[in-house]
Amino acid sequence: MNIALIQIPKIEDTRGNLSVIENDILPFEFKRVYYLYDIPSAAERGGHSHIKQKEFLIALSGSFDVILNNGLQQQTVTLNKPYEGLLINEGIWRELNNFSSGSVCLVIASAVYEESDYIRDFNAFLRSKK
Ligand code: TYD
Repeated sequence: MNIALIQIPKIEDTRGNLSVIENDILPFEFKRVYYLYDIPSAAERGGHSHIKQKEFLIALSGSFDVILNNGLQQQTVTLNKPYEGLLINEGIWRELNNFSSGSVCLVIASAVYEESDYIRDFNAFLRSKK
């Protein structure tokens, strides 16, 4: 599976912790940041793969599951720490579910939004792997 859990540097302080992401902890230069919030608990997000784009997902608050598929295998990763992120390289189908109340998913992406980089049909994704 072309994914990795990456620890985000954490500066601990009795006044509250601080984590920082600079380009050196990621294998790509980031071009865009977006975030999911106000997510109903039964919601499912994702449901696509990217042709070129890489993404780094962080549960800034709360928790959720990321179900990953590389065309051969499926794996579920639970994100629930603001100091740990999931790198999803290109060519990986992802679905997000099981969002806790008040959860926030931050996504750092290697490219600006471009619909032509998405594969949104699972069968088309499987065909792209052959
Ligand atoms: P989508 O990427 O499908 O959301 P998710 O995978 O998190 O469930 O995007 C949902 C909608 O938002 C879709 O119509 C495209 C739009 N969108 C943008 O306009 N810009 C963006 O940067 C993103 C991520 C989505």
